[in-house]
Amino acid sequence: MEIKAIRGFNDILPDETGKWQFVENTAREVFEGFGFSEIRIPIVERTELFSRGIGEATDIVEKEMYTFTDKSGNSLTLRPEATASMVRAYLEHQMYSFDPAAKLYFIGPMFRYERPQKGRYRQFHQIDAEVFGVGNPMVDAELILMLIHFLKKVGLEQLELQINSLGCRDCRPRYREELKKFLTKISFRLCEDCQRRINTNPLRIFDCKVKTCQEAIADAPKVIDYLCEDCRRHFGKVKEYLGIAGLLFTLNPRMVRGLDYYTRTAFEVVSYQLGSQNAVTGGGRYDNLFQEIGSVDIPGIGFAIGMERLISLMPEGKEFIRYPQLFIAALGEGTFKEAYRWINQLHLQGIRAELDYEGKSLKSQMRRADKLKARYVLILGEEELKRGRAVLRNMNTKSQEEILIDNILEIIKNKIVLD
Ligand code: HAM
Repeated sequence: MEIKAIRGFNDILPDETGKWQFVENTAREVFEGFGFSEIRIPIVERTELFSRGIGEATDIVEKEMYTFTDKSGNSLTLRPEATASMVRAYLEHQMYSFDPAAKLYFIGPMFRYERPQKGRYRQFHQIDAEVFGVGNPMVDAELILMLIHFLKKVGLEQLELQINSLGCRDCRPRYREELKKFLTKISFRLCEDCQRRINTNPLRIFDCKVKTCQEAIADAPKVIDYLCEDCRRHFGKVKEYLGIAGLLFTLNPRMVRGLDYYTRTAFEVVSYQLGSQNAVTGGGRYDNLFQEIGSVDIPGIGFAIGMERLISLMPEGKEFIRYPQLFIAALGEGTFKEAYRWINQLHLQGIRAELDYEGKSLKSQMRRADKLKARYVLILGEEELKRGRAVLRNMNTKSQEEILIDNILEIIKNKIVLD
């Protein structure tokens, strides 16, 4: 039986990887320009890191983690997100001892055992950026500015930035109680999952996709009305700085995010072109996560962009596939050796060149060059070689010229560079 990839795990094929490279390169360029440095973290961590960091009563920890026991009996998990690992790495290497402020980014695959559908996979990729050690609301807006700038730079349009504040350890418990009271009153209208959530994690009810639940909570209390003075001030400043940065946003008082570590600022960038899985990016502030993981009081804020969703939104028409710059059609044993020498030289100089290894007829080699969309074909016959010449054909204009074999590599390189 043929072996297939696992459900929800995708191959990214060569004609798609050009887009991925473009997105990754643009992220590196933009983020580094904003003062961020790359960090690389392991794919597998101790399960406890995520259950403590993301929260026991979240969907991710309750039902979506790829958890297994290794041969020493340790419970390990394929990372479902990057933030907790980045915090762990920052603490483990005491990066704060040099300077508490750190701006870090990470690009890589994440794993969640979700029901696969369009825009939702079991292995997916994130571009993640985090600022540790700065509680000032200026940073919230600066980070969002970087995100929007990046999304625009890769060609995304028609996006909406939604923001909310989730309060802090002082004010959120009061909100939670009010919400619980409200939900208990209308519990008979809620689905089974939401009825259970009333006690485990009432805020999660806002993410329920069941229509009747959404109708039942239309008048639920809003977290924004329960913020303490400090949180209210922080949120006011974030909005002010977003304005200074020239960014438009929508307030979404029902956005609670799927991970428990958030405090204060929460944001998402959504696209109405995406259907039900419409969030391209999610993020927010998490001023207690460091305490959960390492008992130190350090603030943090960050976001993660879903690369599959982002790439599905990129405008068509931009050319990302790289075709051969040159195809060498060699005819005959003697010419083949010469062509082999040249192609190696061209490769060493970074010219994308192809050679037919099968010794096929000129017609069949030309057909292949055409299929591969080579820009130029160098035709080298025994007769021409004896005369010290070869024919260079421009496959776009269909024009061809005889060129001298002395300095042939220079001639080809110049043509390709100038083209
Ligand atoms: P998240 O909202 O769980 O946040 O994920 C961020 C983004 O990853 C989503 O907006 C979506 O584009 C993409 N994503 C999530 N799950 C899937 C999936 N199953 N298939 C495809 N794409 C998916 C976090 O992960 C937080 N760590 C973000 C963050 C960083 N907050 C602070 N710092």
